[in-house]
Amino acid sequence: MLERSREITVEKRIVGKRVAHLVTAGDVVGIGTGSTIACAIEELGKMVESGLEILGVPTSYQSRFLAIRHGIPLTTLDENPSLDIAIDGADQVDAHFNAIKGGGAAHTLEKIVASSSKRFVIAVDEGKLVERLDHPVPIEVIPAALSIVIREVKSLGGRPTLRTALRKDGPVITDNGNFILDVDFGVIESPDVLSGELSSCVGVVEHGIFTDVGEVYVGKRDESVEVLKRD
Ligand code: 5RP
Repeated sequence: MLERSREITVEKRIVGKRVAHLVTAGDVVGIGTGSTIACAIEELGKMVESGLEILGVPTSYQSRFLAIRHGIPLTTLDENPSLDIAIDGADQVDAHFNAIKGGGAAHTLEKIVASSSKRFVIAVDEGKLVERLDHPVPIEVIPAALSIVIREVKSLGGRPTLRTALRKDGPVITDNGNFILDVDFGVIESPDVLSGELSSCVGVVEHGIFTDVGEVYVGKRDESVEVLKRD
């Protein structure tokens, strides 16, 4: 039902590189997941090679393996519970700085890392900007609670689809060992209200609605980057 493109376009590359340069010497940086942030990780690796001293906290196996490949020293939230900055991608961002994440099924750790960070920056290509969110909301679900979460999200007006794996039979299993439901709510009138309702469903580990995002960097086809900041 939802095809997420992992193709690295010029917009993704340009904005990924740009947000890497927000990281400064001595920073502990949260490293998001996805193809846009893969470009940021590559750039951060070059900066580290040139002498920048940072520590990264990855949000998935994907970003951990990429960071290791690019020589970025890593740490954990146990060792560094307060991060200076976190950079991440998103699947959709609205005009009020709400976002939907979780296309890579990594939104639980992404939200933990974002909320541990003094500064949270999202990097997207311009095609992901919308007036109002209408992308299906990824929800990480404890497997034993699947049927009750399906019932609950239907009662909230959602149409859930269990995310299935591409090169494995059956469902996607997250890095935390859970399932993902992609729930279509149509146009989301009130992201903060829906966020609260989903958070209170028993069996929901975390959902992909991020409210109050501080900064959004937007990569454009003309290779410019627009910076959007909340007042
Ligand atoms: C992973 C995410 C990603 O940041 C989001 O899906 C965007 O990915 P991409 O940069 O590949 O378009 O939330 O859980």
